[in-house]
Amino acid sequence: PQRSSDKMETTTTANGDGPVYEEREEKLSPEDLSEMLAAGTKEVHEKAENTQFVKDFLKGRIRKEIFKRATVALYFTYKAMEEEIERNKEHPHFAPLYFPAELHRHTALARDLEYFYGPEWQSQVSCTEAAQNYVDRIHQVGQEDPVLLVAHAYTRYMGDLSGGQVLKKVAQRALKLPPTGEGLEFYCFDAIHSAKSFKQLYRSRMNELELDMETKKRIVSEAVKAFHFNMEVFEELEEIGKTIQEEVLDAGMPVHGAMGGDIS
Ligand code: HEM
Repeated sequence: PQRSSDKMETTTTANGDGPVYEEREEKLSPEDLSEMLAAGTKEVHEKAENTQFVKDFLKGRIRKEIFKRATVALYFTYKAMEEEIERNKEHPHFAPLYFPAELHRHTALARDLEYFYGPEWQSQVSCTEAAQNYVDRIHQVGQEDPVLLVAHAYTRYMGDLSGGQVLKKVAQRALKLPPTGEGLEFYCFDAIHSAKSFKQLYRSRMNELELDMETKKRIVSEAVKAFHFNMEVFEELEEIGKTIQEEVLDAGMPVHGAMGGDIS
């Protein structure tokens, strides 16, 4: 083992307040799925951090229209993922990772969309091509090879628990969204008090799955794919952003006609 790290296990409080995550010192090994995933996605994580869309977002360069469309893409992604998680919640390769109260995001995203698009939001939004490719893969995995669902859950939920708070603050400031949290429920995990502790619990649950080395490797490559699906969505949002900017410019500064064609 390269390092020792805290692992967590769930115990139930005597007063029935629900689960508490208690620390238990254990060794991690490079053959543990959590370590294989962290190492195997390190490079693609760096790539994802360096996509233009993500860099712009972190600098607060995000327009409301694009933020709304990003929320739409997340809604379709989580709806698919959580549908497949429900289908597989008793599957021994997923059951220990089933934390609907703590993690599930699609109802929070539905409320965010209602805030942005109004009560008729369902008829106002549609799934774009890149998001649809991601959704199709999630459904395929959930129905044909459910052990790979772990990779999709890991890529999104662990990422959300890692960077979510930073992204929330950036969005709140850049878009001047109300401090009540409306429009940003996706970023709020009300049932998780410590993201750090929860991530440790999730890692130890991943490591307790009965999996052979070949399957663990397949999960890591599926996680790399999941990162790529996310990057495709970012690139698509980036492109949509350009067309919206052009439309705004076109509307403000007609090239033909009104100004007599003289751009000066
Ligand atoms: C973990 C930052 C984008 C998925 C982390 C951690 C940081 C971080 C600091 C480590 C947290 C810890 O050690 O507990 C960022 C930044 C991003 C970004 C600054 C860009 C703005 C993404 C994206 C995804 C993602 C786009 C995937 C959709 C993950 C995952 C982990 C993680 C799965 C858990 C790694 C592990 O411990 O196994 N991120 N992230 N991140 N991030 Fe990101």
